Amino acid sequence: HRTRVGVIGAGPAGLLLGHLLHRAGIDTVVLEARTRDYVERRQRAGILEQGTIDILRACGAGDRMDREGLRHDGIELRFDRQAHRIDFPSLTGGRGVMVYAQTEVVKDLIALRLESGAPLLFEAEAVAVEDFDTTSPRVRYRHEGDEHVLECDVVVACDGFHGIGRRSLPAHALQVFERVYPFAWLGILASVPPSCEELIYAHHERGFALHSMRSPEVSRLYLQVAPDEDVDAWSDARIWDELATRFAVDGDWELATGPITDKGITPMRSFVAEPLRHGRLFLAGDAAHIVPPTGAKGLNLAVADVALLAELLLRWFSEGDEAALDSYSRQALRRVWRAEHFSYLMTTMLHRDPGQDSFAHRLQLSQLHYTVSSTAAATTLAENYVGLPTV
Ligand code: FAD
Ligand code: DHB
Repeated sequence: HRTRVGVIGAGPAGLLLGHLLHRAGIDTVVLEARTRDYVERRQRAGILEQGTIDILRACGAGDRMDREGLRHDGIELRFDRQAHRIDFPSLTGGRGVMVYAQTEVVKDLIALRLESGAPLLFEAEAVAVEDFDTTSPRVRYRHEGDEHVLECDVVVACDGFHGIGRRSLPAHALQVFERVYPFAWLGILASVPPSCEELIYAHHERGFALHSMRSPEVSRLYLQVAPDEDVDAWSDARIWDELATRFAVDGDWELATGPITDKGITPMRSFVAEPLRHGRLFLAGDAAHIVPPTGAKGLNLAVADVALLAELLLRWFSEGDEAALDSYSRQALRRVWRAEHFSYLMTTMLHRDPGQDSFAHRLQLSQLHYTVSSTAAATTLAENYVGLPTV
């Protein structure tokens, strides 16, 4: 069968792209390897930048976010047993972020897609992208035991870091930039009200910790662990003990504990594969780039990529504007590299690198003190965290 835009992957990138194009009257098919239940439960990001909030609202996908999301106007940095707040609106001309989980964004976009009747196939695994250097690229995929071919005008790979889109390209077509960090995050979801009103990013000599949340009743917390850490080595009691140690401050703050309902380890890497266009094949979201999670940029970059790409594709479909398609990679990469830099800085400022010497640790502490005492340094953190409107 045939469609104008074949979208591989129903994560935030693929679902939003499908939604934006469908609203503009462009035929799309979205293929997703996993089940609906799986993609709706996969625990990942939780923070939406102002720009992401605006995009979701503008395309009619923001109603539940506006009812249930928690608006946050700052974060706390903790180190040396002291807490310091960074205020976003006063440093960024009124901008802030929203706590609204990726699982909820994905549920909302799936519901809109199914309501519209536009095709979204679960358990449909793309196995190859072919002929992307011609005007009729094709996606081969497996669905319900059979192999199918989807003929397209354009294919967009929104299939995440391990997807097939990027891997369909010859190695010489891509320039890859990469950093792998010597630590990982152990993330938990717990049925306990958050012990804070805003997120806490903690630097401690035993490693980084982050206190986030999903709702007034559900907490989300992360702990720096070794990259090869076995999740079974972490009993609930050990996790809560370690978190309490790393968040400890002088004064009477206490970490509330409760039943842990989800536990998982996330490796940390920075990765960019350039360019993002290869003839009629486009890469968007994690398929093209990965950031370490410190700073919460991954989901926001995926949304920004496809919002830009949808606009450029519409120009091409309506006016034949080939220059619009040509500009996607360059425009998207400007934002991507800003987020890469910010995520790298946040990661290296806050984590303990097991191989680092005492000089490096003193520099980290100096950077933290500077960030919470200089308006210039705090502004740099704040404007990157809430997301730069243009870069
Ligand atoms: P994905 O959400 O990865 O979606 C890709 C989709 O493509 C998936 O549904 C996948 O099943 C599907 N797919 C893959 N291959 C195929 C195929 N061959 N055929 C069809 N479908 C296919 N970011 C943060 O900001 N904070 C966090 O705490 C955080 N935690 C994370 C934890 C984990 C374990 C991971 C992997 C990422 C995390 N991220 C986090 C990053 C953030 O979740 C991603 O940046 C975001 O999901 C990117 O969206 P995407 O749509 O590009 O990719
Ligand atoms: C969350 C994840 C992050 O990486 C981050 O920097 C802040 C919050 C979260 O999952 O809530």
